[in-house]
Amino acid sequence: MKKISVVGFGKIGQAVVANILDHDIHVSAVDINPDLKRIFESGKYESNEPGLADSLNKSFGKGLLQITDDFSAVKGSQAIIVAIPLLVDKQKNILDEPFLDCFKKLAPFLSENVLIVIETSIPVGYGRNTVVPAIESMGKKHGVDFLLVHSPERIKSGSMLKQLLVTPKVIGGVSKEATTKAFEIYQWFFNKDLIHLVDSIEAAEMVKLAGMAYRDVNIALSNQLAQFAHRIGVNFADLIPLINTDGEAYLLQPGIGVGGHCTPVYPYFLINNFKNAGMDFVLASESRVINDEMAAHAVQLVSKQVKNKKALILGLSFRPNIKEDTFSTTYLLREALAQDGFDVVLHDTEFSAEELTKKGFQPVDDIYATGAEAVFVVTMHEQYKKLDYYKLAASGVRFLVDGRNGLDRKAAESAGLIYTGIGR
Ligand SMILES: NC(=O)c1ccc[n+]([C@@H]2O[C@H](COP(=O)([O-])OP(=O)(O)OC[C@H]3O[C@@H](n4cnc5c(N)ncnc54)[C@H](O)[C@@H]3O)[C@@H](O)[C@H]2O)c1
Repeated sequence: MKKISVVGFGKIGQAVVANILDHDIHVSAVDINPDLKRIFESGKYESNEPGLADSLNKSFGKGLLQITDDFSAVKGSQAIIVAIPLLVDKQKNILDEPFLDCFKKLAPFLSENVLIVIETSIPVGYGRNTVVPAIESMGKKHGVDFLLVHSPERIKSGSMLKQLLVTPKVIGGVSKEATTKAFEIYQWFFNKDLIHLVDSIEAAEMVKLAGMAYRDVNIALSNQLAQFAHRIGVNFADLIPLINTDGEAYLLQPGIGVGGHCTPVYPYFLINNFKNAGMDFVLASESRVINDEMAAHAVQLVSKQVKNKKALILGLSFRPNIKEDTFSTTYLLREALAQDGFDVVLHDTEFSAEELTKKGFQPVDDIYATGAEAVFVVTMHEQYKKLDYYKLAASGVRFLVDGRNGLDRKAAESAGLIYTGIGR
């Protein structure tokens, strides 16, 4: 019987599991959250990922999917895929322990070179130099009891199941034997043409991190150019599509900041890798600073002209139409506004007032009755694309700072609002 275990049944784990189940393979999903099984049993599992709830509920009903917090459930699996977060502290230093604890719990059940795949993004060298020794410290041996590969998960929330069908799957192992085994097993649930083998686990680790650093540096470049353009009165953001017609440039849009658990975090993995190699990843370090300072820059755009220092922030999610706020720019913006003496209220279409209060914000239900003079859009949720600019103006709003350059400038200005984008 083909059986795969997936450790970490969160956003990524659930999508990975659904993709495997779609190929009629048995799956044990192991997660420290004991409530997950109960949610499925009560029929209450839902997800805003298209197709995910249907797929998982159906397989759970058929008995193809086992959900448990008992690590012994991995017994009998040909592969164990790990998709639990590698946590970082406020300074973005890696917190080994919760992550490694999972491998220590797995160790007693590893035998006959079972394949372990880390899909979580990890620093370069982390698989070989940290994970392998952690498992071996439990008496198990690489090449005898287990084989380790890294295959960075590069899909993003919003359309995960679709992305899994088209995103190239990069795999690199601690040994050739590990990579070969992963290649065989991943063909059970991935099109062979999508699978790209690289020479080592370090190469696979670098793929995801380099992609993330590229994105962050690219946005930082746009953000700096946007600030210069603003100073000289050039509308930079609207020029980007034109700049990108030269066939070589691929500039991303400037914005009020970069949030999420990936882009603002993984560059630090590489920055530390550089440090350990006696090098300085200046470009990535500076880009992090530039992007994190964009929230304060957005405040400066209107601060001197505002008379009533009350601001409404629209959006806490780090990405439109999803309920995730990890390292959201809104936290930096709140800090910058508070430092400038603003009273700050927040609205988000995905979070309830109670949830926002718990996160330390002052929530508002009605965005047209807040008494704020300045509105800052951080997240381009669908609802905010349809803002009623006249109602905003009538409620006392004078300044509209469009942190994502996604609003209708002309419509806002014709309602009497003073519109400012980021480089727009
Ligand atoms: N969410 C994304 O958009 C995304 C995209 C690409 C890659 N990733 C990668 O996937 C990883 C997981 O992300 P996610 O969004 O699924 O996180 P998540 O928080 O949604 O889910 C993680 C799950 O792991 C469980 N867990 C934590 N520690 C555990 C342990 N020791 N043993 C067993 N289960 C444990 C949690 O209970 C939770 O259900 C990230 O760290 C990232 O590297 C995420």
